[in-house]
Amino acid sequence: MSNVAEIFETMEYGPAPEESAYVRDWLKEKSGGFQHYINGEFISGDKSQKIIESRNPATGEKLASFPAAGETEVNAAVTAAKATFPKWSKLSGHERAKYLYTLARLVQKNSRFLSVLETLDNGKPIRETRDIDIPLVARHFYHHAGWAQLQETEFADYEPLGVVGQIIPWNFPLLMLAWKIAPAIAMGNTVVLKPAEYTSLTALYFAELCKEAQIPPGVINIVTGEGETGELIVKHQDIAKIAFTGSTEVGRIIRRQTAGSGKKLSLELGGKSPFIIFEDADLDGAVESLVDAIWFNQGQVCCAGSRLLVEESVAGKVTEKIKKRLSSFRIGDPLDKAIDMGAIVDPVQRDRIQTLVEQGEKEGGEVWSPKIDVPEIGCFYPPTLISNVSPSNVAVREEIFGPVLTSMSFRTLKEAIDLANNTRYGLAATIWSENVNRALEAASMVKTGVVWVNTTNGFDAACGFGGYRESGFGREGGREGIYEYVKLRKEWGGIEKPVPAVEIEEDSGVEGIDQTPKQFIGGKQKRPDWARTMPVAAHDGTYAGRVSFGNRKDIRDAVEAAFKAPGWGATTGHARAQILYFIAENFSKRADEFTKRLQQLTGATKTKARAEVDATVSRLFAYGAWADKYDGLAHSPPSRNVVLAMNEPIGIVATVCPDTVPLLSFVSMWAPAVAMGNRVVVVPSERYPLLATDFYQILETSDVPAGVINIVTGERATLVKTLAEHDQVEAIWHHGPADECKFVEEASADNLKRVWTNHGRARNWFDPRIGEGREFLSHACEVKNIWLPYGD
Ligand code: NAI
Repeated sequence: MSNVAEIFETMEYGPAPEESAYVRDWLKEKSGGFQHYINGEFISGDKSQKIIESRNPATGEKLASFPAAGETEVNAAVTAAKATFPKWSKLSGHERAKYLYTLARLVQKNSRFLSVLETLDNGKPIRETRDIDIPLVARHFYHHAGWAQLQETEFADYEPLGVVGQIIPWNFPLLMLAWKIAPAIAMGNTVVLKPAEYTSLTALYFAELCKEAQIPPGVINIVTGEGETGELIVKHQDIAKIAFTGSTEVGRIIRRQTAGSGKKLSLELGGKSPFIIFEDADLDGAVESLVDAIWFNQGQVCCAGSRLLVEESVAGKVTEKIKKRLSSFRIGDPLDKAIDMGAIVDPVQRDRIQTLVEQGEKEGGEVWSPKIDVPEIGCFYPPTLISNVSPSNVAVREEIFGPVLTSMSFRTLKEAIDLANNTRYGLAATIWSENVNRALEAASMVKTGVVWVNTTNGFDAACGFGGYRESGFGREGGREGIYEYVKLRKEWGGIEKPVPAVEIEEDSGVEGIDQTPKQFIGGKQKRPDWARTMPVAAHDGTYAGRVSFGNRKDIRDAVEAAFKAPGWGATTGHARAQILYFIAENFSKRADEFTKRLQQLTGATKTKARAEVDATVSRLFAYGAWADKYDGLAHSPPSRNVVLAMNEPIGIVATVCPDTVPLLSFVSMWAPAVAMGNRVVVVPSERYPLLATDFYQILETSDVPAGVINIVTGERATLVKTLAEHDQVEAIWHHGPADECKFVEEASADNLKRVWTNHGRARNWFDPRIGEGREFLSHACEVKNIWLPYGD
């Protein structure tokens, strides 16, 4: 090894390893094996549990072993969490804030230890664990101590959910633990968390910190294990919510397994995030940022900027700069403070990366890696660039989850956005341009939950994080993240019971299809595909009329019509408000007619029917009011950024309406979605479809653009099935009986559409606190967090 003088002379690299002996001593103390942390105690559990070994990916050495929790241990953890919940949730926010604050302080005090342990266990560079992972862990507990403190005033209408099951991945082991545990316990929930099998050690050390912080037993329970343990948590009947971060594949399994259980669910899944460089960008800054985007944490980052899209005029220059930068890359001992890239978490993952790169090459990609030293021992993979790829190349489509960048060029902004959005994921995007207009135009067009402008991979506890499409749903961080761990306190109003069909005494509906109300699709009345109709009974069994008997084709046509009306999302809230007011005005002119119709169909008294009509007018006004008021937030993370949390429409929302209060619920189920810029396909109550078909005549005269509101009547089960399985439907709001909710949730797993169901409960539609407002609006939006440079 060179001495200091020689190093100065040659400026050659000399290793600078972080001290790790004291962490190894701690591991030695645990050489008998770690235990689960249940009810405030370390418990070995059933002797028959499988034992998992944790290895240092940089060397292959065994670090520790721990058991895989089975039914007994998971039950014990859930039971402890359930028993503590009433007490913990009743503590004042301030009391809970103090516990979170203590955890934050302990993380800070132990930050060096935790950084080294994380690096040993995961293989990521100490530079990252020391400067990013662990400081952010502390930041999360501080920030959420604050939310606990403010809970009574800021979330007065909400209450905690109960026992929350949390399953986390291996790429940011302790940080993901903090993302999950901090908001959950801040709001008064208790948790059972399972760390990933490759990286459980910092979670187990954190359990010791929980003991030191005197967190009441049962509030935080940590059980170790593999997928099977995760599955036991997911299926446990006493769990009120599952929060999962990991692969899209497992996310789908969890969606199916929790379907119909009433468990709240948030999924933070994979990504294939674009990194867009426009020709006017600061190219050196952009390339350095690209290094952070894809070679940070060896590219094992769900939001890694893994698809470079660079404007053609500067593509050559950018490639040159990337290659130059990578040629001086240092890859090796993650404990070395001067290393750029550490080890891949496990040989299984490295093999997966290798396979995908080889497939990408077979499909025509040009694979390049710098000629740098890559350690032969340990689990390393060189930084890799694949160029000359088509959008269909597997390396472009699949999440590689490794240090592999694909590169493509574009000529126009539109082409850049088309390429950026050409993915089933939607987690993050990075945009580099010195032109603020262009950068923000692009930011508004990418379909991702996070956008970084002239920066990348920014994370903060105050800012929401989460994806669109198959990147999952729900947000973590900030105020948005808090809503994932609470529910409204209000009583709903019993169980949703479909109104039974009434036998029609005499089907005098001889009128042909021409007189029968048709489907309302693309702004026009449209004959149903089958040209079939169905009779509708009045409340007393007399004949009330006929409606179209829609089928799958009608639903597909309606979705197609909605698809063709994307302009609605770009209209201003002010314009949408005017249209909603206009609908309300036109509807109120026909108040008497609708009152009579309600009386005829439901048997309601005139007073009751009139009250429903009046409430419907008011509801339309309410969403006219909200259309330009449910706007976003601006966050101030502790960096030179401002983060704009923009409420964006989801896209195409299907709404399936209940039979109860059929006029008011019908309007309540689409008006908020439309107010926020979504296009809707509405399936009205099967028992009272005439209210919806009467209503479309109002829509026809109220300046609603074609395709924004589409109404399909028919047999509910068929229509719901088609909607739930339709790939272009991005969200489904479903109000119906419990078994149907289960079906909708299961079917939604394919494209991971957002499902909002009533889980079989009946809503009190008349009460504006239950039947309208923010809860509806939040389900009508995706929050896009746009990070901008801000400050001097
Ligand atoms: P994974 O999704 O299998 O593992 C994540 C966590 O889920 C772990 O704690 C695991 O034990 C648990 N798990 C596995 N199967 C489960 C089940 N059926 N029920 C409940 N919990 C279950 O991810 P894996 O296999 O470690 O990595 C495979 C790929 O997934 C990666 O190459 C990457 O593409 C993606 N991934 C994405 C992550 C992200 O942050 N979005 C994180 C980790 C992996």
